Amino acid sequence: MNNKKVVLAYSGGLDTSVAVRWLADRGYDVIAYMADVGQGGDFQKLKKRAASAGASKVVVQDLKKEFAEDFVFQSLKAGAVYESKYLLATALSRPIIAKGLVEAAKKEEAASIAHGCTGKGNDQVRFEVTAMALAPGLKIIAPLREWNMFSREDEIEYAKERGINIDVTKKSPYSLDQNIWGISIECGVLEDPWKEPPQDAYKMTIDPEKAPNKAAYVEIEFKNGAPVGINGKKYPPVALIEKLNKIGGKNGIGRTDLVENRLVGIKSREIYEAPGGWILHKAHNDLEALVLDRELLHFKQGISLKYAELVYYGLWFTPLKKALDAFISKTQKNVTGSVKVKLLKGVVSVVGRKSPHSLYKKEMATYDHGDKFDRSIAEGFIKIWGLPYKDNKGKGL
Ligand code: ARG
Repeated sequence: MNNKKVVLAYSGGLDTSVAVRWLADRGYDVIAYMADVGQGGDFQKLKKRAASAGASKVVVQDLKKEFAEDFVFQSLKAGAVYESKYLLATALSRPIIAKGLVEAAKKEEAASIAHGCTGKGNDQVRFEVTAMALAPGLKIIAPLREWNMFSREDEIEYAKERGINIDVTKKSPYSLDQNIWGISIECGVLEDPWKEPPQDAYKMTIDPEKAPNKAAYVEIEFKNGAPVGINGKKYPPVALIEKLNKIGGKNGIGRTDLVENRLVGIKSREIYEAPGGWILHKAHNDLEALVLDRELLHFKQGISLKYAELVYYGLWFTPLKKALDAFISKTQKNVTGSVKVKLLKGVVSVVGRKSPHSLYKKEMATYDHGDKFDRSIAEGFIKIWGLPYKDNKGKGL
């Protein structure tokens, strides 16, 4: 174990590039670890940048498949949405990146890991709690909480003085975090919760006003709660999400605007795009409505809220999350079938659903010929159902 070796979660942005040098300046041998969760970007260029900042080694690991299968689809099955509007793209990516970081540290025999999160966000919590759960002995360094650079300009100056090759010209006025499941956008004008987000803040979706006037129809096939096909064709998880991101994006699907409660006690305004995510979430929900009985469905809705909190709070690798996963898996046994969705100008509507496990019985529901529902037993049912409230003269009201 090398006490002066650190593996840093490196994004290629200004913060983490400066962090490389800051750690190196303190005598650390810095290994830059880049997880590919579908954020895009030129990894070759970023590798060079890490080296120019002083990293002795750069590791790039493609985690997209594992992320889609074990994190994103698990969250989809759980029906997790934070505060009704956030499908948790960033929050889901942190535990898998932190896991990769911890594994890289073990492999490199580094005694420490580091990250470039700020001291007032949720991501620092998610990274560190994951590392604490998976590798309690590792030391965690958070340069941005320690150094005394307080603005972007301070960091740019630090980088320039030390010849770190950063391209500051292309800086977006927003802070972005993207992966296959969606993008989180904050800062700049978005910090005023009264101001409508400008169109240039969005990256994955077209303005719904400019989307086609003609609806697009998509049929999604699910097996045991996981999406497996689109329009009759099978797709592996990553390709399936990417395909729906494209179709959804073109139709302006999946934008949300949220003033959210951060774990660290602050309210922040953030906008999100998750075109494929919202299509899948709505389709999955609808299929569950067809195949789950009432009690299970309603109970699961409460679990979805809790699950979303656990993901948001950085509690992915915890006993409660594991126990809930066992419950979720059990609920997905019959969530197999197809859902037809209609995409039109920013709106996803489910217009059809079918399943070999459907609990919908036309002969029970129909008001037409062939009705098999026995009305005569309804009367007795109502008498007993209403019994506690009968003849109590409104007591307790
Ligand atoms: N507020 C979201 C969360 O805590 C996203 C955070 C990252 N956002 C960003 N624009 N860098 O999960």
